[in-house]
Amino acid sequence: MRHLRPFLLLAALLLAAPAVQAQLYQAPGPTSPTSKDQVELYAPHQDKEVGIVSIPDSKLAVLVQPEGREWRGFRTVILRWGAAIAILGMAGLLLLFYLVRGTIRIGEGRAGRTVPRFAALDRFAHWTTATSFLLLALTGLVVTFGRPLLIPLIGHPAFTTLAQSGKAIHNFLSVPFVFGILLMIVLWVRDNIPEKADLVWLKTMGGLFSKSGEHPECGRFNAGQKGIFWAVVLGGGALAATGFLLLAPFALTGIGGMQIIHVVHGALAALMIAIILAHIYIGSVGMEGAFDAMGTGHVDENWARDHHRRWYDEQVGKGRVDPPPAVRPHPAE
Ligand code: HEM
Repeated sequence: MRHLRPFLLLAALLLAAPAVQAQLYQAPGPTSPTSKDQVELYAPHQDKEVGIVSIPDSKLAVLVQPEGREWRGFRTVILRWGAAIAILGMAGLLLLFYLVRGTIRIGEGRAGRTVPRFAALDRFAHWTTATSFLLLALTGLVVTFGRPLLIPLIGHPAFTTLAQSGKAIHNFLSVPFVFGILLMIVLWVRDNIPEKADLVWLKTMGGLFSKSGEHPECGRFNAGQKGIFWAVVLGGGALAATGFLLLAPFALTGIGGMQIIHVVHGALAALMIAIILAHIYIGSVGMEGAFDAMGTGHVDENWARDHHRRWYDEQVGKGRVDPPPAVRPHPAE
């Protein structure tokens, strides 16, 4: 019998456990409201349930926050569908545009002479912003679409590793992203001030469908590029600001404020990815000679005359255009 005593004690404990547990839950202390009735005594609001806590962090007294359901709906349904439609929709439009219009060619072909367009510092600013944005976008998409798309594909353990490292990358890259944007502002803002000629460019859509192949005149940046610049500065800036607030939860706002910040961050990110897809298209396969500007920093003279006539004339005036091959000095001279 003595040997059986520990087992009997364990059995008694196991049998008594549910009763003890129920007792614990039914008897909350005066400062720890855990039952619905008690909560409603403290805060008879319609459906928001707020209790009382004795610790300084008053938001911990919120037991039920109905807006949280709307936020979850945004997070799991609206954001996913919205982002998918914006990104895939833009990719589809670009593909269609490519099939209809093809690559925009340099009217008279390459001249073989070049004009310096972006200095090393310009390109450093661009590629710092671009690389960090692309990685921020990818890791952000892992967070948004991971559960429905990636977990079924790669399983929970691999997704955990991916999501954890993705989140670290996402947090860290906000710094070079902001740095790149600040540098772009310093370097390019004066060439991105809107002007009258932008209206003509917008009306004719940059001469995209003009029969003569003529492009409306413009300076260093056309209206479309100015749009990209301001989208990056303002949209990217707002993404960074909301991102930093998400990194420091409740620093400035309560629960509702955090939800609004998240909604703005998610919706803006989807919009920005779609806009940048269009930018990447036109800066690469969409337009002959465009990539050189950010690749080597030099563009072909005929490209510059086609797309940025006024800027080209200014460069000629400043003597920055390479002379035609016939009058080029001999390398030995
Ligand atoms: C990764 C692919 C990308 C490519 C191939 C690309 C290509 C280019 C090119 C060729 C230009 C110069 C156009 C000119 O001569 O005027 C340019 C400019 C610019 N890029 Fe990118 N870019 C990429 C990604 C990005 C990203 C991710 C951002 C920002 C988030 C960005 C922001 C800008 C801005 C603000 C400008 C100046 C305004 C403009 O020309 O539109 N780029 N890019």
